[in-house]
Amino acid sequence: MANMNKRFHILFFRNAQMYLLATDIICLITFLLIPFSYGQSRLISTFHSKTPISNVEIANNTIYIGAENFLYSLNAENLTLIQSVTTGPVLDSHLCNSELSSCIGSRARLSIVETNNYNKILHRLPGSLLTCGSVRQGVCELRSLDNISRVIKNSTVAVAANSQNASTISLIDNKNEKLYVAATYSYDSPYREGFPAITTRLLYNFLPINAGSLDGEAAVHIRAEYRSRFRVNYIHAFRDEHYVYWATVQNKYVVSTAYSKKVTKLIRVCQDDDK
Ligand SMILES: *[C@@H]1O[C@H](CO)[C@@H](O)[C@H](O)[C@H]1NC(C)=O
Ligand SMILES: *[C@@H]1O[C@H](CO)[C@@H](O)[C@H](O)[C@H]1NC(C)=O
Ligand SMILES: *[C@@H]1O[C@H](CO)[C@@H](O)[C@H](O)[C@H]1NC(C)=O
Ligand SMILES: *[C@@H]1O[C@H](CO)[C@@H](O)[C@H](O)[C@H]1NC(C)=O
Ligand SMILES: *[C@@H]1O[C@H](CO)[C@@H](O)[C@H](O)[C@H]1NC(C)=O
Repeated sequence: MANMNKRFHILFFRNAQMYLLATDIICLITFLLIPFSYGQSRLISTFHSKTPISNVEIANNTIYIGAENFLYSLNAENLTLIQSVTTGPVLDSHLCNSELSSCIGSRARLSIVETNNYNKILHRLPGSLLTCGSVRQGVCELRSLDNISRVIKNSTVAVAANSQNASTISLIDNKNEKLYVAATYSYDSPYREGFPAITTRLLYNFLPINAGSLDGEAAVHIRAEYRSRFRVNYIHAFRDEHYVYWATVQNKYVVSTAYSKKVTKLIRVCQDDDK
């Protein structure tokens, strides 16, 4: 469901199935009823987000929405707003660590400015809501399902892309407590040293599996000299058998400019890979 900088219509039909249609027109969640006879649809209920929506989760009769600077929870039956939580703009700089307690270079503190927070990851876990935004190096929080403004746990581990236009596409495996994340390379920062393109993370500490191990961790990196030019845009992720796949659009050649020819590829990792 995740899609960078796309706005969504969410359409509810009688059979209660949810369809997401990415459009660039409006941020609108609509509730439609399709009568039996004619092909006409009747609008029952709508929800307007003030800012572009990036992720949607539906669970236990609640819709959770991650948007630019906002998180929302809605009643899934009638789209009534339950809660709206502001997540940005916040003071931030990609030259500083997630807590802003240390910055690289003597003048880096001047780069701390009010920054929009784009929701990059949103998943419903068994007892909490996982949210990761583009600010503070893409760190994540676990929030209470009943009160999404209540942060149960925070972290200093960089997980999501740290800029507006860098994609982040993730899947969770609640049973094995894993989080599969692919993130487009964005700002270089000493606080994202070794940030992987694709990684399998442990759900509750957010670190790549076997992080720091000499035998290798469950992560794929793009070599430093290519990272800024070899842009991989992650579009969607899915599972099949024991694999996790990401559909991507990327430069055809590793050595190429940002505007050179693009190709579509599927990237596949084993769900159980730990190196
Ligand atoms: C679903 O929501 C209801 C009402 O908020 C709550 O009482 C119940 O515990 C929730 N169930 C799960 C499985 O989270
Ligand atoms: C929406 O549905 C919930 C429970 O299903 C109900 O409590 C609430 O009053 C409804 N709101 C409106 C505006 O219909
Ligand atoms: C994490 O939570 C603690 C305690 O609530 C707070 O002091 C700290 O600033 C938070 N850290 C981040 C990175 O949000
Ligand atoms: C939700 O959590 C926030 C932050 O912890 C708190 O200030 C607020 O009172 C809570 N709201 C409800 C309805 O419990
Ligand atoms: C990101 O995308 C938005 C909307 O497409 C565009 O206006 C903006 O200039 C882009 N920013 C960067 C840094 O590329």
